[in-house]
Amino acid sequence: MQGRDKLCAKLTSAFLRKWWFVLASAVVLLLLGIICAIFFGTWVRLFIDHELVLRPGSMTFEWWARPPVRPFIRVYVYNVTNADEFLNNGSKPVLNELGPYVYSEEWEKVNITDNENGTLSFNYRRTYTFQPELSAGPDDDAVVVPNIPMLSATSQSKHAARFLRLAMASIMDILKIKPFVEVSVGQLLWGYEDPLLKLAKDVVSKEQKLPYEEFGLLYGKNGTSPDVVTMFTGADDMSNYGIFQRYNMRERLPHWTTDQCNSISGSDGSIFPPHITKNDTLRVYDKDLCRLLPLRYLEDVETSAGVEGYRFTPPEDVFAADEHNRCFCPAGPPCAPDGLFNVSLCQYDSPIMLSFPHFYLADPALREAVEGISPPVPEDHRLFIDVQPEMGIAMRARARIQINLAVSQVLDIKQVANFPDIVFPIMWFEEGIDSLPAEVTSLLRLATRAPPLARAALGWGLSALGLLLILLAVTCLIRSSHRQSTLRLEGAALARQPPKQPSKDALELGRR
Ligand SMILES: *[C@@H]1O[C@H](CO)[C@@H](O)[C@H](O)[C@H]1NC(C)=O
Ligand SMILES: *[C@@H]1O[C@H](CO)[C@@H](O)[C@H](O)[C@H]1NC(C)=O
Ligand SMILES: *[C@@H]1O[C@H](CO)[C@@H](O)[C@H](O)[C@H]1NC(C)=O
Ligand SMILES: *[C@@H]1O[C@H](CO)[C@@H](O)[C@H](O)[C@H]1NC(C)=O
Ligand SMILES: *[C@@H]1O[C@H](CO)[C@@H](O)[C@H](O)[C@H]1NC(C)=O
Ligand SMILES: *[C@@H]1O[C@H](CO)[C@@H](O)[C@H](O)[C@H]1NC(C)=O
Ligand SMILES: *[C@@H]1O[C@H](CO)[C@@H](O)[C@H](O)[C@H]1NC(C)=O
Repeated sequence: MQGRDKLCAKLTSAFLRKWWFVLASAVVLLLLGIICAIFFGTWVRLFIDHELVLRPGSMTFEWWARPPVRPFIRVYVYNVTNADEFLNNGSKPVLNELGPYVYSEEWEKVNITDNENGTLSFNYRRTYTFQPELSAGPDDDAVVVPNIPMLSATSQSKHAARFLRLAMASIMDILKIKPFVEVSVGQLLWGYEDPLLKLAKDVVSKEQKLPYEEFGLLYGKNGTSPDVVTMFTGADDMSNYGIFQRYNMRERLPHWTTDQCNSISGSDGSIFPPHITKNDTLRVYDKDLCRLLPLRYLEDVETSAGVEGYRFTPPEDVFAADEHNRCFCPAGPPCAPDGLFNVSLCQYDSPIMLSFPHFYLADPALREAVEGISPPVPEDHRLFIDVQPEMGIAMRARARIQINLAVSQVLDIKQVANFPDIVFPIMWFEEGIDSLPAEVTSLLRLATRAPPLARAALGWGLSALGLLLILLAVTCLIRSSHRQSTLRLEGAALARQPPKQPSKDALELGRR
């Protein structure tokens, strides 16, 4: 009581009985608190957007140009163990999944030019290094796989004139080309000289010329990509952040039947437009995938470094043989079987079909057509990206794809006359990152945890302070008015009859 009285007295005298001043500041504080609580989220968004924009020289730009991450690719090869029985005796192919063969990657963007219109143009540079200690064996392990250049050529000749097929058969005879080749894992990935490609390079007309005479599933990927990519920086519009505008001067793909399916308006999977909600569809464009890959929310996750995020994964019908994928089948029907994606138009007409590993989400008959592939497990074979939703940064990712060859039986070519119509799995890989470096993670953690805390602290703190002041001012007002009326009353009483004993209040007043 004593303390509060003193405070009141101080307040009233300090503000020269301008109680309205105290009240006004209290109301201002209260309003500020409420405004903070309401608009703080928007301010944080604006701040994040401002920081994310890829401006040459900024920290995000440096991280984007030379990502401080340790990506890797793990390759699993299906080794054919009964090639002869398969060809001569009609048995199912027996496959033995070998791997992983692990390569670490280094990502970089080179030749970056700022177009001054909210876009950057650049080339990707990726360097792969074999990691023997993380792999199941050396990358010179010998494997037996279908001869992809040969089977592509024979499958393509199915609708050609018969004499062409016969000519092909004799050329293959002379060159001793067989439907299966024994190569090392490294050769299968990074390239080996192929007699057919070498021949084609010399014979085929200039326009149709294949760009190389070696064949490898990742051929030419080690090093600077010749593709010039133009990407939005977010300077004009954050909803385009990290999205490709052009890929090799093209704004859309030429292969498919609708504009929507030809769109390349996706990111490369490392950054996305920020402020992602569980309702959003993220889009990733990859040149070898030959289309946009949509990703939808699957579940909440937490990375090993303790940052919360959302896991996004392709919808289950992404490669389904249904109406919404009709645009990806310009020559059909018939179209690719359920769960396969026909990329032959992007692969120089080779009958390459992509799927998820172990034919996850595909027709089980495809897996049962061969022996040695275990049933798919979503945890091991699903493609996913974990994003930090506020900043749209990928924190962990597994891009998992299986490469298959859709062989058509061609009876006129004796070398492959016994090779039935089959979707032959060749290999699958997972490319990804496990974690971001500590400096990025701590920033992400700060970005997720600090804003709600700061907002609560500011909002509640200011409001509470305002309320406290109002309460104080009101109490003081009531007290002082009460005291004044008491004083006036006592004063009146005093005037009527002089006191023998001063009242308690009067004494106190005197003491002050
Ligand atoms: C792959 O299969 C062949 C038999 O077809 C075998 O000779 C070879 O050793 C196998 N490769 C590995 C790495 O096991
Ligand atoms: C081919 O199949 C027959 C029975 O269908 C079997 O007896 C024979 O051993 C097989 N040959 C080879 C090389 O596997
Ligand atoms: C940058 O582009 C030019 C021409 O487009 C090319 O000659 C050069 O090799 C490129 N530099 C790098 C580092 O890729
Ligand atoms: C920005 O400029 C580049 C280079 O001049 C051009 O290729 C691109 O289409 C432009 N983008 C926009 C959105 O105007
Ligand atoms: C990729 O290229 C680098 C040099 O540019 C080389 O050191 C490395 O061995 C290559 N990786 C593979 C897997 O060929
Ligand atoms: C999610 O999207 C659906 C339709 O796409 C919409 O009806 C719904 O309101 C959205 N929910 C939220 C929380 O935005
Ligand atoms: C794959 O696409 C090509 C080009 O559109 C087409 O010729 C081929 O028949 C397709 N393959 C299948 C199995 O649908």
